[in-house]
Amino acid sequence: MGGLSGRSSPGGAQPVIAGAHLARRFFQSIVDRGPDPAEEAWLLGLLTGAEAELYQQMSAADRSHALRSARCPALADDAQRVAAALHDVGKIQTGLGTWARVGATLMATAHPRGLRGRWANYQDHPRLGSEMLREAGSATLTVVWAAEHHLPLAKSSLPPEVAATLAAAD
Ligand SMILES: [Fe+2]
Ligand SMILES: [Fe+2]
Repeated sequence: MGGLSGRSSPGGAQPVIAGAHLARRFFQSIVDRGPDPAEEAWLLGLLTGAEAELYQQMSAADRSHALRSARCPALADDAQRVAAALHDVGKIQTGLGTWARVGATLMATAHPRGLRGRWANYQDHPRLGSEMLREAGSATLTVVWAAEHHLPLAKSSLPPEVAATLAAAD
């Protein structure tokens, strides 16, 4: 819930991922034992081959988060379930573990323009994921939600009810 709790950095271009969101994900990450195989089979049935390849590169904790997001009862259809599942796929380019993500978020809060390399990529995962999904031929909803999932709801280019539903699923 509350996944669109990001806020804009002083530069305005790149949202800083909100601490509350990260704290919740952190605690889920340290207790997570990986996704249930039957749940993964269900989700893979909704994805294209190219999307499935991206999904399977995600860490176990991120795949669990993807499945929890895709199973949100508020989602209206499979298009929204796929968008919900793949919103964080850009994290596969960051290669950061749980503790480094906490560090990246704390650093970004203190020094929004001071991050380099993989730490900067972590903060940039919405844009990276959106580009990967576009190249994979994903639906516009999936591409746009990956790009916008840390923006405030008011800044989303999606219909407000769709953005709110996807945010609830995150
Ligand atoms: Fe994210
Ligand atoms: Fe997320």
